[in-house]
Amino acid sequence: METKLIYQGKEIQLKRYPITADKSLRAWSNAELLVLDYIEDKKVGKIHTFNDRFGIWNCTLQNQPVTTIWNYASQQKAIQQNLKLNNLSENVVYKTSLDVLDEVELALIKVPKSLELFELFLQQIHKSSIAKTEVVAGFMTKYFSASYLKVAAKYFEIVEQSKAWKKARLLILKQPKTISIDEELINTFQWRDNEYKQYYGVFSSGNIDIGTQFFLEHLQIHPNETKVLDLASGNGVIARWVTEQNSKTEVTLVDDFNLAVASSEINLKSKKAHFVCSDNLVDFESSSFDVVLSNPPFHFEHENNIEVTLSLFKDVFRILKPNGRLVLVANTHLNYSTHLSRLFKEVAIIKQNKKFQIVACIKKA
Ligand SMILES: C[S@@+](CC[C@H](N)C(=O)[O-])C[C@H]1O[C@@H](n2cnc3c(N)ncnc32)[C@H](O)[C@@H]1O
Repeated sequence: METKLIYQGKEIQLKRYPITADKSLRAWSNAELLVLDYIEDKKVGKIHTFNDRFGIWNCTLQNQPVTTIWNYASQQKAIQQNLKLNNLSENVVYKTSLDVLDEVELALIKVPKSLELFELFLQQIHKSSIAKTEVVAGFMTKYFSASYLKVAAKYFEIVEQSKAWKKARLLILKQPKTISIDEELINTFQWRDNEYKQYYGVFSSGNIDIGTQFFLEHLQIHPNETKVLDLASGNGVIARWVTEQNSKTEVTLVDDFNLAVASSEINLKSKKAHFVCSDNLVDFESSSFDVVLSNPPFHFEHENNIEVTLSLFKDVFRILKPNGRLVLVANTHLNYSTHLSRLFKEVAIIKQNKKFQIVACIKKA
């Protein structure tokens, strides 16, 4: 795996977090390099960065004040890891997508897969923009569509594209529109007589995912299962369903994406709910949960990868009490039951349809 890159004559090491066995994956793309090239001669006071997943901009722009807008717990870990690896200052100014930013002079974006998240970034920039605000958004051409241009034109008068370089290109946005655009970028929908809200970019916008619907149609929680973890909780629908079955159940929701966690906090008002933004379960005690429920992730931006999920399953095994259960729903083709059989003695497919399987595992004492 390539981990070295030369920027302005200096060698920088960038590694992925979490680590991957896929040697074709790097911790940066040509899109971020093209952005660096474009801003090289610019004299700016302050830079805001968006969707810098592994910290290339934190590591290369050390001589300038950078504010990093973070979305994923794993992103913060990757940035800190790479700063340390290069003996650079680990003091990063972090803000979330829901914070009000200081004046934005120059914003750098690695265009995310989610068009909604891209719009959320632009709206946040627009709210703190000044006349000379410039946005430089890098993307790999194969992932780009005209919809990104349309969203950009909602917030900026000038929307230009650069020439392509090594299959990457830039979108350069100037002259923020003078109208104020205050619409809250939240999707609201009804499901089974309940209202759900979720910030733009959170999984399954506009409705409850059909895999999750299938899961909740067939799921049963036993009366003695009172400590439940909703792993990869998204908008919190699974945990909310659990508290509706038994209001005394203590539910913990874990998701890597801070906007997912913030959405679940809106959807779940139970006093017995705990919300955690994390990409793993290392901070949870061993043998502490009766049940773990999940519709686990397998897409990471444009990558399809189950390595993260398989490592989460190991964590799940550890934190389950003896005789505790992991019950999950997943696309049938992912064949999780084979992987889970290596960890759990008892693994059963308790329901399936053409697309999804519900798999239940028991941690035998
Ligand atoms: C398939 S969605 C399920 C969301 C929700 N449970 C539902 O049913 O609508 C998977 C979720 O996993 C989250 N995720 C991705 N990687 C994660 C990780 N390492 N740890 C925890 N959550 C993760 C994503 O942010 C996403 O919200």
